[in-house]
Amino acid sequence: MKKRHLVTAALPYANGPLHIGHLAGAYLPADVYVRYLRLMGKDVVFVCGSDEHGAAITIKARKEGTSPKQIVDQYHALLRDTFQKIGIEFDIYHRTSDPLHHETSQGFFRTLLHNGQFEEKISDQYFDEQAGVFLADRYIIGTCPTCANPDAYGDQCERCGSTLSPTELINPRSTLSGSTPVLKPTTHWYLKLNEHEAWLREWINQGTLNGVQLHNPADWKNHVIGQCNSWLDGGLQPRAMTRDLDWGVDVPAELPGAAGKKLYVWLDAPIGYISATKQWALDHNRDWEPYWKDEDTSLVHFIGKDNIVFHCLIFPAILQAHGEFILPVNVPANQFLNLEGRKLSTSRNWAVWVHEYCEELPGQEDALRYNMIKNMPEQKDSEFTWKGFQESTNSELVNNLANFVNRVLVLSHKFYSGLVPDVDLSRECRSGWDATQTTTFDADLHLLHLKLEDLGREIEHFNFREALRIFMEISGAGNALLQFNEPWKLEKEDPEKVKVVMNLSLQYVAALSVAARPFIPFAAARMRTMLNLPAFHDQGEWLDMLNELAEGNPIMRPMHALGTAEHLFTRIPDEVIAAQVAKLEATDAANNNTELSTAVATAAEPAPMKDTIQYDDFAKLDIRTGTILTAEKMEKSKKLLKLTVDLGFEQRTILSGIAEHYGPEEVIGQQVIVLANLAPRKMMGIESEGMILMADNPEGKLCFVSPITTWTNGGGVS
Ligand code: MF3
Ligand code: ZN
Repeated sequence: MKKRHLVTAALPYANGPLHIGHLAGAYLPADVYVRYLRLMGKDVVFVCGSDEHGAAITIKARKEGTSPKQIVDQYHALLRDTFQKIGIEFDIYHRTSDPLHHETSQGFFRTLLHNGQFEEKISDQYFDEQAGVFLADRYIIGTCPTCANPDAYGDQCERCGSTLSPTELINPRSTLSGSTPVLKPTTHWYLKLNEHEAWLREWINQGTLNGVQLHNPADWKNHVIGQCNSWLDGGLQPRAMTRDLDWGVDVPAELPGAAGKKLYVWLDAPIGYISATKQWALDHNRDWEPYWKDEDTSLVHFIGKDNIVFHCLIFPAILQAHGEFILPVNVPANQFLNLEGRKLSTSRNWAVWVHEYCEELPGQEDALRYNMIKNMPEQKDSEFTWKGFQESTNSELVNNLANFVNRVLVLSHKFYSGLVPDVDLSRECRSGWDATQTTTFDADLHLLHLKLEDLGREIEHFNFREALRIFMEISGAGNALLQFNEPWKLEKEDPEKVKVVMNLSLQYVAALSVAARPFIPFAAARMRTMLNLPAFHDQGEWLDMLNELAEGNPIMRPMHALGTAEHLFTRIPDEVIAAQVAKLEATDAANNNTELSTAVATAAEPAPMKDTIQYDDFAKLDIRTGTILTAEKMEKSKKLLKLTVDLGFEQRTILSGIAEHYGPEEVIGQQVIVLANLAPRKMMGIESEGMILMADNPEGKLCFVSPITTWTNGGGVS
């Protein structure tokens, strides 16, 4: 392992709160990794901060009728506090609006220019004539050429994930004015990425640079290398590193043509890692340079998969183009986390917001961390469900871990007045690892040692799920040790054997108190108190433990006085889960109606045609006529009416998003056409068993499609 470690976690945009996808993608794996390194006594600096530039920020400011400065101040504070509440412990949480960062990134720009890394090029860019400005990629939406998503952004389609450039969009429109933008020439500085293609290809695939082995590509995740190669295979093109914007880092003013130009956010943001390290060094009277310039530093970037090309190709190219900087030894990007079967979406509020979680489930920070690590999207997308969260908390943290710790502490107080008992090393007891085997104190301690080494190795290789599994396996073995030996029964007939069982159990709890810290740091601290062991100083406690075990020594010596048992975890009751699910259902209902109103609002512009379907697809629809028997407004929903519809052969409850167009009294008795075989769907606690077909008229009003002749109810449509 290298002498020192620099770990970065993607700088979150300061335009919104943190959700569980961010946590699972970058911050938790980084935090687990760093906490482990600290416990191994490593020299490690963990940097992060707010990404406060880029169109994401100005779009948000415009939407809220405020200034970018106000937006970033507000969200920088929220993000910083949220990280702290959920136990993500950066050495510094910096921000890119800081003057130190502006200087640092401008310095970089000058060096790149001096090194001949740029070419100035005139290109045609979209300009909004009504707003009188060039449009950042994010300000242009249009139809994705790959998947036909009508609302793809100029830089990326959020539906299919393809990276786009604004000119690839079909039917582009400006989000500022709604008008169709026109192409106008403008001059920018382009990084000659094409000149970096060859070495990047070698470095990504062989891990070598100019013949020197910098890392082993087998240690990198396949999906990371795969994404890089698919970019490289497309050929790297010069990429503009400046923008026509009024918010961001100024292009150094002394350069001709700098007026009105800012650095591209993906140039300045990763340099934010460097600025953050500089600020940390200033604050702690340390030197930042070895962390970025000495080959004996291990630089690791934790990111989500949407950031891969920037961290594996573009930023490395920038670092090399500068000339003085090292390259990352790994970029263990995670895939995406889904929520209850659907993609997380900030704009649709389909998310669990971490600051809300901390308010609504106080004291359960570790339970969320635990579930996120257990389901971390390390190799493929994964999913968060509230049911799964309840299950992992109650059956693993409460029933397994907390139960074990509690039993050991309570029994130790009962049998030994809270003092760690001395043991007879020759005595045998049943092994908690294998019910058919017996074990001795030394043999079992040795096994524990091996497990802890395995666990650490998995963390070093970014296999956090597997590491957590081993952690729980140790706890499970501890529980089994008690279960198989039944010290509560055995104490009378064989107290010497019970001492072996209890002492071993105590060593397990002590080991778990250290191993818990990367995953569930709040619980780990409580375990230390319960055991009356020193609080953590992140100065090699894990390493010390391994060293003791390697010598055959226990972690806690006989006669060590324990603290008292307290609750390690509390159960998550059904009501809490029900409330969270209801919150999501309300969002869902609101979203369905938003879709409807967007459809209405944009009715004037014809929407692009969907893909052609075959007759067989159409024939799957079971369309019936019906009559609305009752109608009432739904509480808490502006848009939904709850209808009872008579189909002739049965009555159905149908929730329909028409409340803004019709009052309940207007629709009773209305004949309607019903899609009768649509899968039932729960909205705001009520199951909707079908869909009323409506059409919008040219004014955007929703109209009933009513049967012209009076059919008998239940008749089919042909
Ligand atoms: N703000 C970006 C995002 O949320 C990530 C920036 S990472 C950095 O996708 F490298 F640029 F800092
Ligand atoms: Zn797409």
